[in-house]
Amino acid sequence: MRLLGLLLAGFVVLAATPAPAQDTAQTDVAQPSASRPVATATSPDGKLALAITINGEGRVGYAVSREGQPVIGESHLGFLFADSRQLLRNMELQGTSKSSKDESWQQPWGEWRSVRDHHNELVATFQEKDKLRRTMRVRFRLFDNAVAFRYEFPEQPNLKTANIVEELTQFRVVQPGEAWWAPAYESNREEYLYNHTPIDGIGTAQTPFTMRTRSGLHVAIHEAALIDYSGMNIARVQDGLLKASLTPSSSGPKVVRDTPFETPWRVILITPDAPSLYHANTVILNLNAPNKLGDVSWVKPRKYVGIWWGMHLDTQSWNSGPKHGATTAYAKRMIDFAAKNGFSGLLVEGWNKGWDGDWFATGDDFSFTEPYPDFNIREVSRYGLAKGVHIIGHHETSANIINYESQLPAALDFARSLGIDSIKTGYVSDAGGVQAPGPNGGRVFEWHEGQVMSRHHLKVVTEAAKRQIAINAHEPIKDTGLRRTYPNWIAREGQRGMEYNAWGEPKNPPHYDTELLFTRMLAGPMDFTPGILSLMGRGNTPIPSTLARQLAYYVTIYSPIQMAADLPENYEANPGPFQFIKDVAVDWDDTRMLAGSVGDYAVIARKERGKPTWFLGGITDEEARSMTVPLSFLEPGRRYRAEIYSDGDDADFRTNPRSIAIEQRTVRSTDSLPVRLAAGGGIAVRFVPLGR
Ligand code: NOJ
Repeated sequence: MRLLGLLLAGFVVLAATPAPAQDTAQTDVAQPSASRPVATATSPDGKLALAITINGEGRVGYAVSREGQPVIGESHLGFLFADSRQLLRNMELQGTSKSSKDESWQQPWGEWRSVRDHHNELVATFQEKDKLRRTMRVRFRLFDNAVAFRYEFPEQPNLKTANIVEELTQFRVVQPGEAWWAPAYESNREEYLYNHTPIDGIGTAQTPFTMRTRSGLHVAIHEAALIDYSGMNIARVQDGLLKASLTPSSSGPKVVRDTPFETPWRVILITPDAPSLYHANTVILNLNAPNKLGDVSWVKPRKYVGIWWGMHLDTQSWNSGPKHGATTAYAKRMIDFAAKNGFSGLLVEGWNKGWDGDWFATGDDFSFTEPYPDFNIREVSRYGLAKGVHIIGHHETSANIINYESQLPAALDFARSLGIDSIKTGYVSDAGGVQAPGPNGGRVFEWHEGQVMSRHHLKVVTEAAKRQIAINAHEPIKDTGLRRTYPNWIAREGQRGMEYNAWGEPKNPPHYDTELLFTRMLAGPMDFTPGILSLMGRGNTPIPSTLARQLAYYVTIYSPIQMAADLPENYEANPGPFQFIKDVAVDWDDTRMLAGSVGDYAVIARKERGKPTWFLGGITDEEARSMTVPLSFLEPGRRYRAEIYSDGDDADFRTNPRSIAIEQRTVRSTDSLPVRLAAGGGIAVRFVPLGR
């Protein structure tokens, strides 16, 4: 009774404006007439309520409310096909089924050791009433902090192959509010600063992106389990009406699949505040299939250094010549530095033939088995392994997957033979510039987030898994939680990392990082490459950050692989702050965002995996902030030595970025920590357990 009341309360509001159902565009924008809920469900805590609807035209829709307040108004579902009539109208409900699940599962590595999957499921099967009688199932899952659904197409005579031109999935955001979103389909792929606009100012956005409605609800739209399908962006139609926009393909239809098949999950995270939105990212993992790789103890979270930042500063080069970074001698020096300071990985870029000439333009020349003559890869790998430092392979492909796939087995075998257990891949090219095999041995151009690339990345990840190699993809397809199924997919880039602070303008402004945490970071780990203690980019241009903020990134921006990205000489010149980078953990039992506001600030505490040590990191935007954080996450009754790295009293990222205060004090779980963040600043703390 209560459920029906809540739903109808929401639904009546949504259906209040009747409109004639003749013209498609008008029907989409206005509220449909004569819609009726045909099935309902709630989240386990009863707060989120879903109504599945069919309107007078036989269009299937759904609506979501939270505590009786409409969140997503009636939004239609459907498909456009290249070779068959649209699947949109004339649908009738054939049946529904319900189930529930409350299970916890263990992450081999991650932000939480144990993840709870608690949801109610409602599956509705629809069939067209006319002669095609095509069938579509929609599987909804309601979590306490999200509603997700996916389409399932059983095998059927009138839909043997789905040539999908567009997915007609709508998200009608009822309340006005603000949004943080990065534009889709632009040349730099995922790497854009966020736009902060009213919801009705959204253009075409990448997912995940985040909204805060007038009532304070936090709503983020993303997808989960993007397998053999094209990535979903979101375009605004009018007012708060948003719709799916699938990434194009060179072949015409954006997705081609034989039935039976299922789409990725469409996910709407809905939470009362920003910290709970951050925690809701476990939903993305819960919607992915369990680990398919079995024992993955060979996947090692780690901190690493690299022959890398010098290239971005332009003091070293990837290509051969006098500035070549990847030389045997320099790699050995880097291994010595890594071993001395406890880093177990060394990324070596520019080790292989193919960087000379215009590598960005074609990528045809890259070899993934032939090192440059001044880099003795066998000797370097042996030298590293003897000191406990693994070479991290680098496969920059220039998004030429024709060349890469033709060498893939040999490239991975070669890496394995050297003891390389993780590889950073790279797909540098403009958006739409992926070179893929075309018909008759030809070449076609694809998008980084299209169906072809969803297949390509899984091929690389599964081939690598056979050889016990982890993959960290740059210029990747977006993260949709597939690390659960393939835990060797250890991280990716997929937004503007630290390298933007090496290059020209604009660098990453402080508010970018505090937006990143509530957008891109909902998707999964990011290889952000922090720790630039020089605070200087190319040509000694200042990086918009304080020193303490560089340390705070290790806790705030999650990745199981974290780079100490600066040059060794800059670490040697800053032994105080460097100590935190040496000490910080990369794998966690528990994660809690203690305070946060989208685009403004965030403070996160994480407990080291398998150890009683806690870490805390906090960052702010351009505004200085002070707050007090209760330490109630610490074990009661225990004393801890808090090693605190905070902005100095006079710190400011513009005028005094290097001012840092490093102090120690003894604390207990009943204490509170004063957190003072300078403009563009941060805080980093290690809590080392002492006696009782
Ligand atoms: C862009 C990547 O993000 C960066 O880390 C890498 O060094 C270059 N591509 C070259 O592969």
